[in-house]
Amino acid sequence: MKANQFGKKGWTPDRIDNLNGKTFIITGTTSGTGFEAAKILLSKGAKVVMLNRNSKKAEDIIVTLKQELGNDIDVSNIQMDLSKQASVKKAAEEVLKTIPQINALICNAAIAQVPKQTLTEDGWESQMGTNYFGNWTLQALLFPLIEKSKGRIVTVGSMGYDMGIKTINFDDLNWDKGYVPNTAYSQSKLAQIMTIYELQDRLKEAGNTDVKAYACHPGASRTNLINTSGSFMMKIMFYLMMPLTQSAEKGAYPQLMCATEENLDQEGFYGPTGRSNWVGPVGAHEIKPHAKDKAVAKRLWELSEKETGVKWNI
Ligand SMILES: NC(=O)c1ccc[n+]([C@@H]2O[C@H](COP(=O)([O-])OP(=O)(O)OC[C@H]3O[C@@H](n4cnc5c(N)ncnc54)[C@H](OP(=O)(O)O)[C@@H]3O)[C@@H](O)[C@H]2O)c1
Repeated sequence: MKANQFGKKGWTPDRIDNLNGKTFIITGTTSGTGFEAAKILLSKGAKVVMLNRNSKKAEDIIVTLKQELGNDIDVSNIQMDLSKQASVKKAAEEVLKTIPQINALICNAAIAQVPKQTLTEDGWESQMGTNYFGNWTLQALLFPLIEKSKGRIVTVGSMGYDMGIKTINFDDLNWDKGYVPNTAYSQSKLAQIMTIYELQDRLKEAGNTDVKAYACHPGASRTNLINTSGSFMMKIMFYLMMPLTQSAEKGAYPQLMCATEENLDQEGFYGPTGRSNWVGPVGAHEIKPHAKDKAVAKRLWELSEKETGVKWNI
């Protein structure tokens, strides 16, 4: 195994310099890794714009953050339901209208392990519609401002990319035949990661070095993920796995690293490097070839343009 470029302890937020004057947009900050990431960015002086579906929860989070970090922090929320294309478009429009720069867009929000096949209002299986198509549209619409700001796109994936069928089920994207919660979740997280590496290729082809794109994951972290959308059985399973997991704060480190660390290799996949990549020092680690399968990634990109009607202006 290659030595961790950040030493034995791996990457930690001590490496983040003062972030005064920098703006981070982060999705899903009402709990888990998103909350912890927002808190650390704010503690370093950044401006943080949160995109959350539940405005009341977001207001409460702002109160909590101010109690912990002081009233001077620069934090706000724009309402966005990632599962609804109309809501994503509206939120992106508001960001473009009101926020002058984006140093990094951190795509953190997601749902997981939805017990029964459910379709979004746009007609996609809920995990694919929220985790994948929601982020597709958000990233593509904010791309011009990220480019203008010479910023980054950070996608929070999952080791689930290496579970399920390990490719995209183009013939039955919604799993009308044989829906399995973890398989559908895994496909949505694989799709998110594949699109980041495909985006890198497209930026390179266009000679665009202004935007950087990163894929990472939080390992196995104690958050609300399973509680929000998982089945009763899944909740029990996650409870039993608890001793093998890490804190939500540690789970936030990979996305913080990808959003702030200078000269980080975009081709890497970042997360905990310990047991099963669930816990341990944060750094780059192996990514299996199916996540960078060029033919699948290209087909997925074209399909996404068609499905959403949203194209990237690269
Ligand atoms: N925890 C883990 O072990 C683990 C493992 C692998 C990958 N991940 C990934 O880590 C990321 C963060 O998850 P987490 O573990 O911190 O879970 P979490 O505590 O459940 O946080 C998820 C966040 O996403 C938000 N969200 C869910 N659906 C949304 C929607 N339709 N629109 C807008 N926001 C929405 C939630 O908001 P509400 O409060 O409104 O529900 C919450 O703020 C996800 O991308 C997940 O796939 C986590």
